[in-house]
Amino acid sequence: MAGRSGTGSGGRLFFNSEFMGTVISLFNHKGGVGKTTTTLNVGAGLVELGKRVLLIDLDPQANLTLSLGIPRERYTIYEAMCGESELVPYEAKPGLDIVISVLDLSGAEMELVNEPGREMILRELLEPVVNDYDYVLIDCPPSLGLLTMNALTASHYVLIPLQTEYLAVQGLSKIKQVVDKVRFRLNRSLQIGGVIATMYDSRKVLNNQIVDLIQKYFGDQVFRTMIRENVALAESPSKQKDIFSYQPASNGAEDYLALSREILTRFEDASVQTPST
Ligand SMILES: Nc1ncnc2c1ncn2[C@@H]1O[C@H](COP(=O)(O)OP(=O)(O)OP(=O)(O)O)[C@@H](O)[C@H]1O
Ligand SMILES: [Mg+2]
Repeated sequence: MAGRSGTGSGGRLFFNSEFMGTVISLFNHKGGVGKTTTTLNVGAGLVELGKRVLLIDLDPQANLTLSLGIPRERYTIYEAMCGESELVPYEAKPGLDIVISVLDLSGAEMELVNEPGREMILRELLEPVVNDYDYVLIDCPPSLGLLTMNALTASHYVLIPLQTEYLAVQGLSKIKQVVDKVRFRLNRSLQIGGVIATMYDSRKVLNNQIVDLIQKYFGDQVFRTMIRENVALAESPSKQKDIFSYQPASNGAEDYLALSREILTRFEDASVQTPST
């Protein structure tokens, strides 16, 4: 049931207001590590905990959009990024809105290449809607292109999902480097908000070794909750539901609820700064 929601916030300013939603990018340039699954189910977990959440599908693969079964509507993130519309959220379920994506978005990086301030577009688009939500979660594509730069420039925090397998740790220094560069050039208050171990299987020795390695590298930035490998999480996109609507008694639901609680504790204790150049 898609319908327009999340209308303007009466001119409160994204950059200066004390009362504003927290914007979080789910980022890892490596593919298939659980970014989309985590965006969807942390978003839904925060809704379970009484928060109002906006998801932004910033990936031309549109997996997040498809996972919620939102049909192609007239307005997507593509039109907004290209200056043809404002951000238009659709309601996925009460408390959970989404700005949908579409394959055309893959052309946006080329189309915007000569646009002045091209890394700031999403931040500006968020300004009139960010205060309608407690949390805005941005699902990044598996790349380091302009779309990802827009997500990081618009965010207070980056959450990094990491699959607990050998190759997962290969890109860690690159991730830190990119976040540092964006912080220096585009968004002074960007912080790594945490690292999430995904698809974890405690029976696999290798998984445990990788978790040790991640903890050595990121210290207490690693969330205590690890997302276990769980078949219901893999099935739920084909049912076009988040895990709490699909199988609320599954390990997947248990883990994502625990992670959402941990995120709330971590971020609501911290004083959130506004993105600023
Ligand atoms: N905890 C889990 N247990 C089992 N399967 C999972 C789990 N988390 C994610 N998956 C599955 O793994 C695959 C990759 O996950 P997902 O799409 O979330 O990764 P991604 O980082 O968004 O990928 P991409 O980089 O392509 O956008 C999907 O098929 C998803 O259903
Ligand atoms: Mg994805």
